[in-house]
Amino acid sequence: MWVWLPGRTTPVVAGRVRYQPGGSRYEFGYARSYLERPNSISLYPPELPLRAGWQQPPPNMAIASVLRDAGPDSWGQRVILERIHGAKGAAVDAGDLDQITYFLESGSNRIGGLDFQAGPTEYVSRERSATLDELHAAADALQEGRDLPEDLGAALLRGTSIGGARPKALIDVDGVPHIAKFSSTSDPYPVVNAEALALKFARRVGIDTTQSFLTTSLGRDALVIERFDRSPEGGRRLLVSGLTMLGLDEMEGRYATYPDLLDVLRRDGRDPDVGRRLFERIVFNIAIGNNDDHARNHAAFWDGRMLELTPAYDLCPQIRSGETSAQAMAFDRNGTRESSFAACIRAAPIYGLTATEARDAIDGQIAVIERDWNEVADLARLTVAQRNRLWRRQILNPFASYGYRASHGT
Ligand SMILES: Nc1ncnc2c1ncn2[C@@H]1O[C@H](COP(=O)(O)OP(=O)(O)OP(=O)(O)O)[C@@H](O)[C@H]1O
Ligand SMILES: [Mg+2]
Repeated sequence: MWVWLPGRTTPVVAGRVRYQPGGSRYEFGYARSYLERPNSISLYPPELPLRAGWQQPPPNMAIASVLRDAGPDSWGQRVILERIHGAKGAAVDAGDLDQITYFLESGSNRIGGLDFQAGPTEYVSRERSATLDELHAAADALQEGRDLPEDLGAALLRGTSIGGARPKALIDVDGVPHIAKFSSTSDPYPVVNAEALALKFARRVGIDTTQSFLTTSLGRDALVIERFDRSPEGGRRLLVSGLTMLGLDEMEGRYATYPDLLDVLRRDGRDPDVGRRLFERIVFNIAIGNNDDHARNHAAFWDGRMLELTPAYDLCPQIRSGETSAQAMAFDRNGTRESSFAACIRAAPIYGLTATEARDAIDGQIAVIERDWNEVADLARLTVAQRNRLWRRQILNPFASYGYRASHGT
């Protein structure tokens, strides 16, 4: 395992991941050369403190979560399976390949500051560039079960180290690293446009996000988002997911809560506004109907000393069938997940906000969304029919406002 130390633009060997001899889990050991460096940092102290010897994953995990975060998620696993098994990859279970194969087959330009190589002596980046259209065509072919030409499959592999379930690829825009998110053949609504809409609104209501824009590829819209884990000089910032901060395995996501995340960020971070920041993200997710706010859709930078919440990402209105809706993570300490502004007000003190401040935050977001709806829907290239299907369903659903009265009394 190689790491980009804070402020550095080349990676160094940090240690080794291996299958436990005679066991069934993955252990990690820091390299002696790494421990001897004056600038070495723990990858994440609760899981892998900086010390010599093999370290076992926490009892609830098969591999330390901070390492797992760096591996491909369902989209990347699918691409790798297809590369190894051909078009029948879709029929092979993602669990059939072991974690180390996933680490070594996925591209090197992964999210965060870690990478994996077969050996400790020479760093060889697994990268292959391609145009947005080529990557898009490859993603389509894969989803439709068609065979991928060798070179396109290889190019698509480059993006397999980014997590998430949706089709995506890595591209550079004027030399700046970005993520491209494509539509999927199985999308029940214009997901890419809805995400573009959400990202635009997030910026307008004051939530920290990176730049993003819609572009056309193969006659369809693709969303291009600037990466926040790269420095202009070529450095890579280390990240930990919400799951890692909470010490949860991927199967335990239902136990993740916003207040627990806040406790970790307050304990190990220095941002006095982190409570308000999280609160505003919860409110925004409710306002735009994004209940896919699971623990992997939150992350923090880790610099060896402190955690700092990353810009928000993966903000997307989700399909909604009934009237009621629940967030993926509870936002108070009693397990409340109901997508309701009134429930947010009750939870506000946890985030260090008075009821009045919480109300102002909610009213402010609602006002911006109501005011800019048509303009932002235009920017997101939504047709009139598409925006009518989102408005008051995903976006500002009346359910969110039951029992809630804006402070200006309307
Ligand atoms: N702007 C960004 N900069 C750096 N990393 C990012 C950025 N956006 C997303 N990521 C990382 O890439 C991963 C996948 O992105 P994202 O969550 O948007 O994909 P997704 O397929 O929609 O996810 P899901 O499976 O949650 O629907 C994230 O979990 C996060 O680690
Ligand atoms: Mg995601």
